[in-house]
Amino acid sequence: GGVFTYDPGYTSTASCDSTITFIDGDKGELLHRGYPIDQLAEKSHYLEVCYLLLYGELPTAVELEDFETRIIRHTMLHEQMQYFFRGFRRDAHPMAIMVGVVGAMSAFYHDSTDIQDPWQREVASIRLIAKMPTIAAWAFKYHTGQPFVYPRNDLDYASNFLRMCFAVPAEEYEVNPILSRAMDRIFTLHADHEQNASTSTVRLASSSGANPFACIAAGIACLWGPAHGGANQACLEMLKEIGTPDRIPEFIARAKDKNDPFRLMGFGHRVYKNFDPRATVMKQSADEVLDLLGIEDNPVLQVAKELEKQALEDPYFADKKLFPNVDFYSGIILEAMGFPTSMFTPIFALSRTVGWVSQWKEQLADPQHKIGRPRQLYLGSARRDYMDIENR
Ligand code: CMC
Repeated sequence: GGVFTYDPGYTSTASCDSTITFIDGDKGELLHRGYPIDQLAEKSHYLEVCYLLLYGELPTAVELEDFETRIIRHTMLHEQMQYFFRGFRRDAHPMAIMVGVVGAMSAFYHDSTDIQDPWQREVASIRLIAKMPTIAAWAFKYHTGQPFVYPRNDLDYASNFLRMCFAVPAEEYEVNPILSRAMDRIFTLHADHEQNASTSTVRLASSSGANPFACIAAGIACLWGPAHGGANQACLEMLKEIGTPDRIPEFIARAKDKNDPFRLMGFGHRVYKNFDPRATVMKQSADEVLDLLGIEDNPVLQVAKELEKQALEDPYFADKKLFPNVDFYSGIILEAMGFPTSMFTPIFALSRTVGWVSQWKEQLADPQHKIGRPRQLYLGSARRDYMDIENR
């Protein structure tokens, strides 16, 4: 009984109300708690944006210091969790390791899995945001066969992550402040994006009352796909495959060909139909970072810029309102920093954790929330009688 709306991909279904993030896809506007993303990327920094997303207001100096201390004090992983990492095949994709390890946190941190208790919800939120850089960095270290580097609590969030990724034993490692600022900006630009696929996955998983670590692991799994967070890895691999600007028309032709499944990675968005404001900041940042690092004539950046130009001039992309998205330029910066493509999506996952956690907390505090349970349009057989195997 009842009337249902058939809406594959939920293109016109709102699943919740929210006060966290606002997107105006036609204007290309993204606001966190009302503040525009370009101002946050320019003037704020990641942990301040985390506070804003979690608690609704920008912190005072005292509040920020207290919050940062709470995060910094929780960056260590239980020593035993190392065995969990070591159980993976040595060349496992870091995203595979993250899905497993974050899910396993529920077994390591029993004292923050009771979602009925607001204090436990707070502790779980802090643990997730604090430990995610350590988890991502250790997934990277394990994947490359290097020893784990422990977090250092005297460093800021981004510098600590870079050090855990790139420091090696018996060698001095100084974090380059340019890289650390660029890293922090990448984290900030990915912090939240309202009800995207992975966030909706976290909310749906949590709607049954599942524990927070299992819900965030579900979000990481969803983010991994190339249509979502996996696009940054796919995009850089595509730019490298194109290789030189003269091959661009061939790839544009393939993207337009309906018989070819190939899509321009880093192009298009369900909600943005004008431009992705994150991509604008990311493009600027890519120029700055390569410039400051003294990387001139980067062939990947050249291909990216020329591809963007040619695609934007092409009526196919203009008619369908396809523009570069956040993933188009982030990979170029990450590569210049020394990350392999397999680390691009883990970095997205670590940045988005605060968004998932904020939306999860908001959902649990909403008196109207109930289990998510979509309906379907059934197109299978009508009722029929079971047939014994010898008669089939
Ligand atoms: N290259 C070529 N054609 C495209 C592309 C593309 N990148 N994106 C969409 N189209 C075409 C698509 O073929 C369709 O054409 P038609 O109407 O003739 O069938 C039309 O544009 C609409 O596409 P859609 O798949 O119905 O749109 P959607 O809202 O379901 O998909 C998307 C959005 C982001 C999944 C899609 O644009 C895409 O696959 N882009 C490439 C992957 C990517 O960059 N993803 C990152 C998204 S932003 C960050 C994130 O979410 O993680």
